[in-house]
Amino acid sequence: MIRMCARPRGPLAVELGEGDVVELVGMDGQALDVSGRRKLLLCRCGASGSRPLCDGAHNRIGFEAPPATGEDPDET
Ligand code: FES
Repeated sequence: MIRMCARPRGPLAVELGEGDVVELVGMDGQALDVSGRRKLLLCRCGASGSRPLCDGAHNRIGFEAPPATGEDPDET
């Protein structure tokens, strides 16, 4: 099972179960080597120098996610 959890003032945490495989693709379309990792932190603030991965920059900029609306942005 893959578990994803959005942290209110930080990244999207992706936790992989035993045997789960994920392919992470960067903005350039190239797959990043995340083999063997059981947890990924994906940047939501846009300030990471290692996007799509979080590098902790959200702390420096004081990132806070906007409140959830419950709406699917693809449906609006
Ligand atoms: S969420 Fe951590 S650097 Fe963007």
